[in-house]
Amino acid sequence: MSKPPVKLRSAAWFGTVDKNGFMYRSWMKNQGIPDHEFQGKPVIGICNTWSELTPCNAHFRKLAEHVRRGIIEAGGFPVEFPVFSNGESNLRPTAMFTRNLASIDVEESIRGNPIDGVVLLVGCDKTTPALLMGAASCDVPAIAVSGGPMLNGKHMGRDIGSGTAVWQLSEQVKAGTITLHEFMSAEAGMSRSAGTCNTMGTASTMACMAEALGVTLPHNAAIPAVDARRYVLAHMSGMRIVDMVREDLKLSKLLTRQAFENAIRTNAAIGGSTNAVIHLKAIAGRIGVALDLDDWTAVGKGTPTLVDLMPSGRFLMEDFYYAGGLPAVLRRLGEAGRLPHPDALTANGKSLWDNVKDAPSYNPEVIRDWERPLVADGSIRILRGNLAPRGAVLKPSAATERLLRHRGRAVVFEDLDDYKARIADPALDVTADSILVLKNCGPRGYPGMAEVGNMGLPPKLLAQGVTDMVRISDARMSGTAYGTVVLHVAPEARAGGPLAVVREGDWIELDAATGRLHLDVAESELAGRLATWSAAQQADPADGSGYRKLYVEHVLQADQGCDFDFLVGSRGAAVPKHSH
Ligand code: FES
Ligand code: MG
Repeated sequence: MSKPPVKLRSAAWFGTVDKNGFMYRSWMKNQGIPDHEFQGKPVIGICNTWSELTPCNAHFRKLAEHVRRGIIEAGGFPVEFPVFSNGESNLRPTAMFTRNLASIDVEESIRGNPIDGVVLLVGCDKTTPALLMGAASCDVPAIAVSGGPMLNGKHMGRDIGSGTAVWQLSEQVKAGTITLHEFMSAEAGMSRSAGTCNTMGTASTMACMAEALGVTLPHNAAIPAVDARRYVLAHMSGMRIVDMVREDLKLSKLLTRQAFENAIRTNAAIGGSTNAVIHLKAIAGRIGVALDLDDWTAVGKGTPTLVDLMPSGRFLMEDFYYAGGLPAVLRRLGEAGRLPHPDALTANGKSLWDNVKDAPSYNPEVIRDWERPLVADGSIRILRGNLAPRGAVLKPSAATERLLRHRGRAVVFEDLDDYKARIADPALDVTADSILVLKNCGPRGYPGMAEVGNMGLPPKLLAQGVTDMVRISDARMSGTAYGTVVLHVAPEARAGGPLAVVREGDWIELDAATGRLHLDVAESELAGRLATWSAAQQADPADGSGYRKLYVEHVLQADQGCDFDFLVGSRGAAVPKHSH
C-alpha cells in the first residue's frame, strides 16, 4: 500500500488559481520558468553560502550547479538563494560573532519562502552549524553538502596543514629557527586549491559531525573540494533531497539524541575540534534535543583517536579521504562495539551502520587500527571547579601528556591587548611551569569568543626550547591549533565568572583525568574578590547599539552553545500569512 503523497508547503504559494497564486507564479516566471514547473514538483532550496570573502566557500556556485542537476534529474524544482556567509579567515571580530545572525537568515529564508526541502551548502567553520541551526528551527527535510577540504598544503618539499602551519611556523620565526622569508613563502603553498582547511580543524570536524549525525550522504566529510567525486556527491544529494521531501524525512527524524551521541564518539575518534562542543549544543538546542557538557564525558570518555591528522597527528584531509574517509572510522567504531547507535537513521534512508559496515580502509597510518590508536583516550575533557563552575574544555589529543596534570602560578592578562602588550617583554615574570591566564575573550567579552585560547608562548621561553604551557581562558581555539589549552571557561570573565578575579601569582591546579580546574585561593577570599567585581566597570560603549547590542544582550554562555537565548528551539515551518 503506498503512502498518500506529502502535501507540499510550496502548494500554499504556487498551487492556487487565484490572485495570490498569480502573484507568486508571475514574478517567478520572469526567470524563464515554464508553467509546468509550478504544478506539484517539490521545490528545493539550495541554501548557498558562496562568497568571495569566504574563500573556503568560493567554489560554491559550481557546487550548487551540480546540486541543481541532481534536483532536476529527480523531478524537483531547484531555487538557489544566498544567506549570510561566515568566512573564518576575514571576518572580524570573529566569524562566531555572526554565526547566530546567519542562522536567523537561514531560518527566515526557509520559512518565508515556497520551499519544501533544502540543500545546505556548507564549508567554512561557522557555515555548517549556522545552516544546520537555521534549518533545524524550521524542521524541514534538509541535507547538507560540504564544500570539501583543500588539497594538502605544500611548502619547501613537505606537506603543511591549514592553520597548523601558521601556528608552527610563526613560533619558529619567533624562536629564530626559520627566517621571515621562509615563513612568508608558505602563504601561497598552504592554500593552493579551493576548499576548506585541510587539517582536522573546525571545518573538517563539523563536516565529520554532519556525516556522523546522518544529515549528509556517506563520504561527505573528506572528498577534496577539487575532486570530481565531490561534484558527484553534490549531484546525488540533489537527487536525494527530492525523495526526502516525498518521504517527509525531516531533520527531527535525523537529529535525534542518538545521532548526537554518535557524533560525540566520532569527534573523539577523529581528534576533532573543541568548537564542536559549542556547535553541537547549539544545533541540539534548535531541534529540542537535550545535550550538555557532561554528555561529552559520559558518551565520549575512553574513545581512542584513530585518525592521525594535524593538528593532533601527521596527515591531512586529502590523505584521510584516500585512506577511506569517515565511513572507515565509523566502521572501526562499530566493530569495536563503540558506535553508540548504529541503527540511527541517515539522510539516504539507511542506518548509519548500513552505510559504513563494509567501508574499506586503505592506510593504517592515517586511519589507525583500534589496537594502535594515536591517543588512547581522545575524548574532549570537560573540566569543572571553582575556576569554571559551568565548565571548561580541553582537547587531550592536541595537548602535552605531562601537562595534563599540572599546578602552576598564574600569569594574568586582563584582555588580548594586555597580552599583546606584555607577552614579549623580557621582564615578564614567567617560567615554563607558569599558567597563562587570558580574560575577556569570551562570547560577550570579546565579543564573539575569539580563537585566541592557544595564545603564543612568551618568546623568551620559546627561545629556550619550551614548546607548550598550560593556558586558560574563556576564549575558543582554532580547530587547527594545539597545546595544553583550557578553553570555554564558563561563566566567562565579562559575565562575572571567577576567571574575572584570578590574580597574578595565584596557584591553579589542572587535572584533566579527573576533570578538575581549581583556583587555589580560600573560598572567603574568592567570594570577597567577586563581591568587588562590577559588571558596570566592564561596560563597553560599543555594546550599546547595532547588531552588537543584540549579540551581547542575548548570547548564551559557552556551556549553552553560545546561541541567542530567544533562538533556542524549533519553530517549525508552518506557512506564514500571505504578503498581500
Ligand atoms: Fe575556512 Fe578554515 S578558514 S575552513
Ligand atoms: Mg578554524
